[in-house]
Amino acid sequence: MAPQEESTEEAMGSEQKPISTILIIIAMQTEALPLVTKFQLSKDTDSLFPKGVPWVRYHGIYKDLHVNIIWPGKDILLGVDSVGTISASLVTYASIQALKPDLIINAGTAGGFKAKGACIGDVFLASDVAFHDRRIPIPVFDQYGIGARKTFSTPNLLKELNLKVGKLSTGDSLDMSPHDEASIVANDATIKDMEGAAVAYVADLLSVPSIFVKAVTDIVDGDKPTAEEFLQNLVAVTAALDQAVTQVVDFINGKCLSQL
Ligand code: ADE
Repeated sequence: MAPQEESTEEAMGSEQKPISTILIIIAMQTEALPLVTKFQLSKDTDSLFPKGVPWVRYHGIYKDLHVNIIWPGKDILLGVDSVGTISASLVTYASIQALKPDLIINAGTAGGFKAKGACIGDVFLASDVAFHDRRIPIPVFDQYGIGARKTFSTPNLLKELNLKVGKLSTGDSLDMSPHDEASIVANDATIKDMEGAAVAYVADLLSVPSIFVKAVTDIVDGDKPTAEEFLQNLVAVTAALDQAVTQVVDFINGKCLSQL
């Protein structure tokens, strides 16, 4: 049998088997720890990751699933959460290599656009992701920079859970420059984060399906300063995020990818 046929059959097989291992990638400790408690996970004592990196894995069995929460940890120099696309890409790559997950869930907070129907505390499942701060005005490189892609389709999960659906735009800044704003509008985004499209890029590269659960902490097109509104709402909105992630994991349990 030709190698290509084998891999197609293998891929079909994995769609039909119950999901066994999930990887939940979460950038902030405040967002991750309530889920670690909820799923009764343990911190890895013998790290899968290279010596010296701050990346943290919590793992355990929840229902029929091997659940892994990966948090990129605190920046070694500055002691703050390692947010943004660089850390997100690195932990996604290293975790896929080490754990061979069936599915990735990138969970976190996001800014929302009220003009597109987002409100504080809403939890979105992203239908699409793209970057808004990688502008390369040369034919085809422009599309590479934007990196737009559809997320793994989960129509049954959407029917079952009360989540909003919208497009997610990713960049490495919490604030929004006029250039970013124009790109976010071009991306038709309802929510804005700092990791999603990077996780999606790596997951696609390594052929792992990925979904994006994002809760709105601040209204980007509102009148409050973003950083203030974000910090004010972080803890309360994290509760909504973690409840939604638990519902998603409960729904996934016992199902195959093709049933999501
Ligand atoms: N996470 C929470 N709010 C955000 C915003 N406004 N931009 C990017 N990431 C966010």
